[in-house]
Amino acid sequence: MIIPVRPRRNRKSKVIRDLVAETTVHTQDLIYPLFLIEGKNQKKEVKSMPGIYRFSLDNLIKEIEECLALGIKTFALFPSIEDSKKDSFASESLNRSGLYLESIRKIKESLPEACIMTDVAMDPYSSDGHDGFVENGSIVNDKTLEILAEMSLAQAEAGADILGPSDMMDGRVAFIRGKLEKAGFSDVSIMSYTAKYASSFYGPFRDALDSAPKSGDKKTYQMDYRNSSEALIEAQLDQKEGADILMVKPALSYLDIINRLSQNTHLPIAAYNVSGEYAMIKAAASNGWLEEEIAIDEVLTSIKRAGAKVILTYFAKDYAKTF
Ligand code: PBG
Repeated sequence: MIIPVRPRRNRKSKVIRDLVAETTVHTQDLIYPLFLIEGKNQKKEVKSMPGIYRFSLDNLIKEIEECLALGIKTFALFPSIEDSKKDSFASESLNRSGLYLESIRKIKESLPEACIMTDVAMDPYSSDGHDGFVENGSIVNDKTLEILAEMSLAQAEAGADILGPSDMMDGRVAFIRGKLEKAGFSDVSIMSYTAKYASSFYGPFRDALDSAPKSGDKKTYQMDYRNSSEALIEAQLDQKEGADILMVKPALSYLDIINRLSQNTHLPIAAYNVSGEYAMIKAAASNGWLEEEIAIDEVLTSIKRAGAKVILTYFAKDYAKTF
């Protein structure tokens, strides 16, 4: 038969396939989320996230050093705060000698080349387990902004390179950016959690930090997964308000959102390959139901192919070791 156009020619060998491949994930695209706990010489595995640990600062610094050697340069840091330190104002988030701020300072002192991204939200420190300030059962937007801005300044002062507001309050990027400018922190980046959906895939993360909401859910601030256009409104706002990178979260059920944002902004897009997405692959792989290494590469590649330049993923270390 004469078939002049045979797309299979571009798949005939690994060399040709690699030559024409449009998308390749590099370790430098990845951000590794890390969980921090109090104490010394602690390394506790998160039950629902095999291979992911909660580290005390001493061990966390060793972990970061190891990752730097593997080519992972950026780390998103999340603190696990004791219940006794939580209150409705998330006051512990401003404690300069508390776990989080002190750790950021020490990490930057001992490993200045590590790029540190923080979490700006109330939930790890909140006795209500919400990302915003709770009054009579509602999340109060504007009061939350004051707290988030103070938290942001404290994290910038501690040496954070990138702030990650993950709260989904309205107007927070502008409010935080304004405070940073006034305080002389104009070099601090903001990676906004622009389109963060109310998702069941955060379950293992909330186990890791013991940060699940004490009442209700997060649906009055995190986005409704039935919506896509709303993500464009959020993206336009964040861009105007001074964000540097726009994030979509979770990643896998939201590849269409990643793609839509990447087509509609010139800012870099990030995607958060969240805890539940990690747990699914780990669970299936440990049962021998799929080949883990290939699944990881396929998942991360699909996120990048959709339009994300930056990927936050618990697979970062595995990926850096294998590829
Ligand atoms: C909350 C926050 C969450 C995650 C990151 N920051 C969970 C939530 O909104 O309840 C989830 C990350 C993950 O699941 O890996 N500020």
